Amino acid sequence: MKRVLPFLISVLMSFPVLSAKMPMPTDMPKSYDAECASCHMAYPPGLLSEQSWQNLMGSLTKHFGTDASIDEKDKIEITNWLKKNAATRGKYVELAPENRITKTSWFIRKHDEIRADVWKRAGVKSPANCGACHTSAAEGIFSEKYVSIPKK
Ligand code: HEC
Ligand code: HEC
Repeated sequence: MKRVLPFLISVLMSFPVLSAKMPMPTDMPKSYDAECASCHMAYPPGLLSEQSWQNLMGSLTKHFGTDASIDEKDKIEITNWLKKNAATRGKYVELAPENRITKTSWFIRKHDEIRADVWKRAGVKSPANCGACHTSAAEGIFSEKYVSIPKK
């Protein structure tokens, strides 16, 4: 059993249905961390479709009420990498309203048990603050096992 268990776990973990896993691709350019992870977490590219990333990267001067524009070289590098690693199947390919992960129908469905006031807690701040509740968000792991909602 000792040897079988890790194997079984790894098999189970490879089923996206059982564990929502979107690991950060290993070829992440440094520019992504530098330019896209200072105001919020570095969102794994697998959370949005190619078209959604294209739309988001094409409107950085008007980025959710802030100016997130960057130099052309970084922009091209990041855009190409995001699109290469974008969601290609299942619910995640949906064209995201307002280019927001948090406005997609799968996101709303998966979070429909969370009351409105919970999103506003100081420890949460915003639905976009994935890591407030998903303790392994930085590793792209969103499964139920690693969810802990701040009490206030
Ligand atoms: C100057 C700060 C800043 C920088 C730099 C920045 N963002 Fe954002 N971003 C924001 C803010 C503010 C929001 C809205 C957060 C919220 O609703 O709580 C946001 C939201 C987002 C969202 C949508 C989150 C949701 O609601 O689903 C994505 C995707 C995103 N940013 C990607 C990027 C990418 C890619 C880059 C790099 C090119 C980047 N951001 C750089 C400030 C920034
Ligand atoms: C207020 C806390 C909170 C925040 C913030 C939050 N989530 Fe969640 N999330 C949850 C809870 C609770 C669930 C439901 C867990 C369950 O029952 O599977 C969930 C479920 C999910 C699931 C489905 C997991 C599965 O195994 O089916 C995904 C994917 C997910 N969240 C992604 C995100 C992303 C991406 C963000 C940020 C853009 C985010 N969440 C922000 C609390 C949160």
